[in-house]
Amino acid sequence: TTKATTISLRAMKKEQRKIVMLTAYDYPTARVAEEGGADMILVGDSLGMVVLGYDTTLPVTMEDMIHHTKAVTRGSKHTMIVTDLPFLSYHISTPETVRNAGRLIQEGFADAVKLEGGREVLDQVQAIVRAGIPVVGHIGLQPQMVNQLGGFKVQGKDYESALRIYEDALLLQEAGCFAIVLECVPTPLARLISEHLTIPTIGIGAGEGTDGQVLVIHDMLGITDRYLPKFAKKYGELFTDMTTAVESYVQEVRDHVFPGTEHGFKMNDDVLERLQN
Ligand code: KIV
Ligand code: NA
Repeated sequence: TTKATTISLRAMKKEQRKIVMLTAYDYPTARVAEEGGADMILVGDSLGMVVLGYDTTLPVTMEDMIHHTKAVTRGSKHTMIVTDLPFLSYHISTPETVRNAGRLIQEGFADAVKLEGGREVLDQVQAIVRAGIPVVGHIGLQPQMVNQLGGFKVQGKDYESALRIYEDALLLQEAGCFAIVLECVPTPLARLISEHLTIPTIGIGAGEGTDGQVLVIHDMLGITDRYLPKFAKKYGELFTDMTTAVESYVQEVRDHVFPGTEHGFKMNDDVLERLQN
């Protein structure tokens, strides 16, 4: 399979073939996402929560994103990699925004970047696109706005906020985004937006009407023992599986079962004899 491009993803939308995106944060998760056949990998700033143990994505830095993007791009060579611009990396000035987006490409080897926001980030989107870097938009629930929003909640339920999200989607498309993530919006709104855009929408908690789907790999594999949002479907119970494996190891060492003779290395008897004398 060949690596997805901004062009091939638009063709997938046109042909109504679903786009599958999955997050990855390091070499093993990138290997798994690629071998599993995902079309796109997102190095999400959700890594702050699922990998670094923060309560929100706000403490995540550019250095964190570059570090993890490097590991992901070493693990998957044939999958399009999108990396999140973290909190405050695109809010200060346009030159700083372009520099930060460029670092994710130049140092992390990402193929594209993603940033949160609608009408308020159009200048940033245009400036990054002008530098030749593909941009994914992200509207609906914007986790970097959690303190402003007062929690991780569904967005766009009333007319005013739904219209705002709809307009933001069109504006982001106009500004040059090649895809837009719709997070935690009502299914009918996500479907309406998807039908009216020529670029693909990728939903998370946005129902079945979007052009693609994205999930956090730790959520879908069940690697975490944290609370899972309603929209996350668990395809594995890896936290339980891994804990059970660790328990077995602990018990076997205590019971003198591990290591067995087969895990050790031999030495010639004459060498041992000479050592003993
Ligand atoms: O950081 C992330 O994982 C994301 C997805 C939830 C879209 O932005
Ligand atoms: Na994110």
